[in-house]
Amino acid sequence: MSAILFLATFGVTYFLLYTKEISKGFRFFICYVVAMSAFLISSLVNRRKYTKRNRPNPSTGLDKLNAYELCLSRKSIRNYDTTKDLSPEEKDSIKAFLLKPENLTGPFGTSMRVSLISKEEAVNGQLGTYGMISGARYFLCTVINEKTNDLDHGIIFQRIILYCTQLGLGTCWMGGTFSAKTFEPLLNLKKGEKLYMVSPVGHVKDEVTMTSRLVSAISGSSLRKPFDVFFTKGLDKNAQDSSFSEAERKSSFIGQCLDAARWAPSALNAQPMRCFVTSKSSLLPSASSASSSDRKDAVEEPYAVHFFGVGGKRTANDVGIAMLNFDKVAREVFHKEGEWIICGKMEHADIEEPRPIGSTGKLVYFATWLQK
Ligand SMILES: Cc1cc2nc3c(=O)[nH]c(=O)nc-3n(C[C@H](O)[C@H](O)[C@H](O)COP(=O)(O)O)c2cc1C
Repeated sequence: MSAILFLATFGVTYFLLYTKEISKGFRFFICYVVAMSAFLISSLVNRRKYTKRNRPNPSTGLDKLNAYELCLSRKSIRNYDTTKDLSPEEKDSIKAFLLKPENLTGPFGTSMRVSLISKEEAVNGQLGTYGMISGARYFLCTVINEKTNDLDHGIIFQRIILYCTQLGLGTCWMGGTFSAKTFEPLLNLKKGEKLYMVSPVGHVKDEVTMTSRLVSAISGSSLRKPFDVFFTKGLDKNAQDSSFSEAERKSSFIGQCLDAARWAPSALNAQPMRCFVTSKSSLLPSASSASSSDRKDAVEEPYAVHFFGVGGKRTANDVGIAMLNFDKVAREVFHKEGEWIICGKMEHADIEEPRPIGSTGKLVYFATWLQK
């Protein structure tokens, strides 16, 4: 939407200035300034509709939180305490978690390796993060193979990130701002394996660095899009009864699971996940096709929650992270079991592309959580 606004403003300004006697370069400059201003104003207006949460830094005592509270407490930490190392118990606990095959396998059947490495092991004692992370001595690194599915990657690494959060440790998903060549020599990469993402892990320094403040401000880290942008009851965003009520959001099982998915981290805080919640019965062969004809069905338990992403297949990892939060809260807080399936009916569903605030591009179907 913002890109369209930028181009439209640029085009209109260019047209209005076309007959004016000014140089081509200056005309382009004015168009750029006007279009950029429109883009920034629209971003700021949109952000005012977002939900802001001030999350305290992780510290001891988080093991007492339930899964919902844990998902909402996690936040990206970029400044670590150089005076407080990971204790031997903390290191052992993380390493033991990383050794269990069930923790390193996703519901879509693929797996990966995750290593805990320290700066001291690195060549020249340096693990590069382009100045983004300060004070961190330990890093978790994900190593994928040719088969690793991006949804599984998001699910597995978020599982580990939340485990560390529960230990009272800071983490920060990093897919871009790290120097792979400083990490790779420590990972014993085999043929077909690749370092994919990393996260620092350690005790948080309460002081916030300028870089950290800047990154959080630019990405709007503590903001999330409104609930209705992410979640639709039924398959038609434009239907009258497609919104979850305040009571459903706050106190129902499905509302809290969805909220945990909403507070999942995403690259650049793009928040590309979208969910459509239907009754499980709407997927029975006898039900009408996933098109406008069954959009008025009542939505009730057992549910089928269909996960989509805005922006194409590359958003799979972000959608996987949200899926983990959703499933963890369903199982651990509400004792509701579900299975992940790829639903042919949804793959070919005739769902109109929603046009909520900040959404651009096409919706891509990923998977469905089917309540047992
Ligand atoms: C897949 C992924 C990649 C990310 N890559 C980076 C990165 O390279 N550098 C960085 O500083 N933050 C990175 N982040 C952190 C996001 O900016 C952050 O999660 C987002 O702004 C939301 O903030 P929160 O984690 O505090 O809720 C990444 C997050 C995800 C999920």
